[in-house]
Amino acid sequence: FDVHAFRDDLLFWYEENKRDLPWRQNQDPYRVWVSEIMLQQTQVDTVIPYFNQFMNRYPTLEDLADADEQEVLKSWEGLGYYSRARNLHTAVKEVVENYESTVPHDKKELKKLKGIGPYTLGAILSIAFNQPEPAVDGNVMRVISRILHIEDDIAKNKTKKLFEEVVQELISEEDPSSFNQGLMELGAMICHPKSPKCEICPVQSHCMAYEKGDQTDLPVKTKN
Ligand code: ADE
Repeated sequence: FDVHAFRDDLLFWYEENKRDLPWRQNQDPYRVWVSEIMLQQTQVDTVIPYFNQFMNRYPTLEDLADADEQEVLKSWEGLGYYSRARNLHTAVKEVVENYESTVPHDKKELKKLKGIGPYTLGAILSIAFNQPEPAVDGNVMRVISRILHIEDDIAKNKTKKLFEEVVQELISEEDPSSFNQGLMELGAMICHPKSPKCEICPVQSHCMAYEKGDQTDLPVKTKN
């Protein structure tokens, strides 16, 4: 497996094909944070208008910290999973109080904030701060399971850790933000669960599942 060629092919494709999404306008860690929380359980198309409205209402971290919780929950109406909004609000207030209103770029500090699990942690560190940290969600597990033909059950906690270790090895040190978002974009645009578009996949030549022809059997997931 040629990790350098894989990276180059992924990054080149991402640069040429990335969608113009509102949270990709800049690297403001507050915007990246809000977007990644919204995107965790909600589709991109649904998130876009909510994200734009949220940013109009609370343009900065301090605006959000100052807002009343009921108002924040009202802005979240329709997105569901309201604990995401409550945790975000709590964490943002903590950043204002204890971190001089600056999102911490230190992994250990960022991890302490309410609602920031391994995925959000890696997404913020890589996308906002250019740190080579994995950001593994279901889409990334699907992509990686196919490329490296990993048959471990993704319903198991241990497997998520395995994928994080694997991505840690693959990630570009030069551009971790584009690398992680490239994997997400590949999952969204090409490497679909049921009908992956392997004929136009930029990393087809690196994909072990494609070579074997069993890409739609991956990832392995037991029901629970
Ligand atoms: N899903 C989760 N994070 C995303 C991002 N930054 N861009 C597109 N889709 C995503």
